[in-house]
Amino acid sequence: MLSKLALFSLLSALTVQVAAISCVQFDSSWNLYAFGGTSDVKLGANTTWSSPSASDLSTSGRPPWTGTNTQCILSQTNNAMYVVGGDSSDLSTIYVYNFASDSWSTQTTSGAPTDLGNSRSSSVLDHDTNVIYTLTTSSGLYQLDLSSVTNSAQSSALAWEAVENSSFSTSGYSVTAAQAANHIFYFGVPDTAAGSANVFVVHYAYFQPTAQNFSGTAFPDTAGQAISIPVESDSVPYSMVFVPNDFSNTYIATHWTNLGDYSVTTDAPFATNLINSTQTIAAPTSQDKTAAYAASPYDLVQIDSQGDIYYYATPVNSDYTVSSSGSWQKLSYSVSGATGSSSSTNSTTSAAPSGSASASASASAASGSASASKAASGTSSASAKASGASASASASASSASSAGTAVVARGDVLGLAIGVLALGAGVLL
Ligand SMILES: *[C@@H]1O[C@H](CO)[C@@H](O)[C@H](O)[C@H]1NC(C)=O
Ligand SMILES: *[C@@H]1O[C@H](CO)[C@@H](O)[C@H](O)[C@H]1NC(C)=O
Ligand SMILES: *[C@@H]1O[C@H](CO)[C@@H](O)[C@H](O)[C@H]1NC(C)=O
Ligand SMILES: *[C@@H]1O[C@H](CO)[C@@H](O)[C@H](O)[C@H]1NC(C)=O
Ligand SMILES: *[C@@H]1O[C@H](CO)[C@@H](O)[C@H](O)[C@H]1NC(C)=O
Repeated sequence: MLSKLALFSLLSALTVQVAAISCVQFDSSWNLYAFGGTSDVKLGANTTWSSPSASDLSTSGRPPWTGTNTQCILSQTNNAMYVVGGDSSDLSTIYVYNFASDSWSTQTTSGAPTDLGNSRSSSVLDHDTNVIYTLTTSSGLYQLDLSSVTNSAQSSALAWEAVENSSFSTSGYSVTAAQAANHIFYFGVPDTAAGSANVFVVHYAYFQPTAQNFSGTAFPDTAGQAISIPVESDSVPYSMVFVPNDFSNTYIATHWTNLGDYSVTTDAPFATNLINSTQTIAAPTSQDKTAAYAASPYDLVQIDSQGDIYYYATPVNSDYTVSSSGSWQKLSYSVSGATGSSSSTNSTTSAAPSGSASASASASAASGSASASKAASGTSSASAKASGASASASASASSASSAGTAVVARGDVLGLAIGVLALGAGVLL
């Protein structure tokens, strides 16, 4: 029989999962994945997105997804993902996901600055060297060399190294960085002209003294989120996506430089007038400042704090021009257990420990949650996720599920936990 203590343990264990922050990423063959929900899932190639079917990924060693500024970064060359800031209790640890083997490993680090994790766009993985560059607001720019990590963690800790302080003030900056052609661009640095971004030149390890102006529609001097668009041939990216917090547009900033001679522009992989230019596509439908983004060479994807996923097909053509005729489409699959998922927020506020009246109300809400989650994920049910606690908890939850009326539309592990708690209070205590 479940003790009251066990029920509380179950509730608190599941609360951690409900607080999960989500992200999306592609593997190097451009299958889409969503991370941070009740389970991490593979959603597959863009040909399947009109009718998505999610398959669960390994849970062994996955991040707790408790960070608020978590970044999921693709190492295209290694077909691996590095999760930065996935554990709020240790922001310096990097979780490494190997797409090919569906396995996680944990890279410990040393010497991290205390102010890691300024934003969801503060770390950039340099394509050619596999070094992470992270700008902080009081410790300058730091780097972490992951060239020895490729797709699984080393057993010894890797050291963060201070690079230098930026040439611009980072006071009040929510770091918004992306890479193109061995330059890291910082969008929305306070007191910078609209349409200009500050620059760190990776190969020369220096911050340019002045911001680079981009031709075309000027993006605002506002922080937001930024990512690079990978290139099919696995060269360094040339296009960056910048979604400022004013959601005026989605900006595509294009950059290329000749590594040997900066004045040479003739061998650019696109028309010379696209060098240091900005083009625009529609702002995201979901104007969520805490959303995360990922791109393949063919698609741009957003996951918001509700766990809802949107995509924009072919944001950039093969000649690097942008056609503004596209639009954001919502995937008919949402990650359950995301931070801002409305049912979990509301369930949290109604989490009365064992009072009979509110507990029974929650129990019917929980029953809807359990079945909705099962339908949404198409895989294992929410009750199965509660397995760590005990078999009788799962059994109680499923009987509640079949008897109850669906009240909450979305899958919600916390709701299930409350339901289990309520049943426990009524049946077992
Ligand atoms: C950055 O500036 C601070 C304060 O001036 C200084 O203590 C620190 O050494 C600088 N860091 C680097 C890497 O130059
Ligand atoms: C593009 O920007 C980079 C970085 O500021 C600069 O070095 C390069 O000269 C610019 N190229 C052109 C063609 O404007
Ligand atoms: C940036 O470029 C745009 C377009 O070429 C131009 O109108 C603007 O004056 C430039 N801004 C700065 C600060 O150089
Ligand atoms: C889907 O991805 C393939 C490559 O995997 C690409 O050729 C195609 O253009 C993409 N389609 C859309 C609609 O984005
Ligand atoms: C949750 O609560 C918020 C306000 O607290 C409300 O706007 C939202 O509609 C509620 N969601 C559900 C599913 O009841």
